[in-house]
Amino acid sequence: MKIGILSSGGDCPGINATIRGVGKTAITQYGMEVVGIHGGFSGLLNRDVEPLDEHSLSGILNLGGTILGTSREKGFREMLTSPDQEQSLLITQAYEELGLDCLVCIGGNGTQKTTNLLAQHGLHVIGLPKTIDNDIWGTEITFGFDTAVNIATEAIDRLHSTASSHKRVMLVEVMGHRAGWIALYAGMAGGADVILLPELGFDIQKINEAICHRAQKGKPHSIVVVAEGLKMPDKKKATDFLTHEIEAATGIETRKTVLGYIQRGGNPSPFDRILATRLGGYATELIAKGQFGCMVCVKDNRIDSIPLSEVAGKLKLVTPEHDLVVQGKRMGISFGV
Ligand code: F6P
Repeated sequence: MKIGILSSGGDCPGINATIRGVGKTAITQYGMEVVGIHGGFSGLLNRDVEPLDEHSLSGILNLGGTILGTSREKGFREMLTSPDQEQSLLITQAYEELGLDCLVCIGGNGTQKTTNLLAQHGLHVIGLPKTIDNDIWGTEITFGFDTAVNIATEAIDRLHSTASSHKRVMLVEVMGHRAGWIALYAGMAGGADVILLPELGFDIQKINEAICHRAQKGKPHSIVVVAEGLKMPDKKKATDFLTHEIEAATGIETRKTVLGYIQRGGNPSPFDRILATRLGGYATELIAKGQFGCMVCVKDNRIDSIPLSEVAGKLKLVTPEHDLVVQGKRMGISFGV
């Protein structure tokens, strides 16, 4: 068999470990031929591929980013849904010309949606879930998330000491797209005082009360973790609004830090390397069995698979009943609501 691998969407730590997991299992266990497709789905259209062998798959386990490159795939997805059937024909032709028996697509929500469309067009595909945001439906966890949480937690730890020295409120904005997973986990791991999640919304009065309450108890410094997806009614940036409002209402000097792309750059954590390796190896097992059209996932703490049709178009969000939210509340952490 000949399999193609591509990575699509935003990069994240652990993609290379997955490529290695898929590729080495395919070559060593099954004698399959493996090609890497450059720059995401556009590389498939352009036949921009390289053979992957044991040599090229060596030394990449701990590397951040993706050796194959990546791109956002909106235009490609539009080709698959276009009423002009010539458009999708270009894609199936590329797949056939490359002589592929299966295409492994490593990506986030958008990629799983596109991979599902490819399956509907009759291609043999497997989806592999990756994102620091941990927001892919159908899997308990995605690789990249643990690394991002580690980075964000270290940042919060560092902000604690400067916040307490200066008696300041420190706002830290973390990534997560529309989901609050990184904010929740890093906030809890870093001992934040206020954690704001897009899923729960916020009431500025409640946030100010929590900060003032701490100050009254002799703790004038506070750490506020803000998920980037936190919505404002008027499209203002939530962190800018909050920094200003908190300082004005509490009288405590307030500063903000936006962590940004630091959270998804660099080497994957050991946890993410293991998870990515497991998911990659399982993908190859599915290919060997001829089980296509699904996404590899973690279910009940075990590696499993789920039909792409069940995943496509859905988001996995934090719920108010999540045990970490409940536990945080029990400990007096404010969720701003
Ligand atoms: O999905 C990962 C992520 O880093 C999100 O947390 C963030 O909102 C987005 O990608 C940033 O995307 P881009 O790379 O297009 O700026």
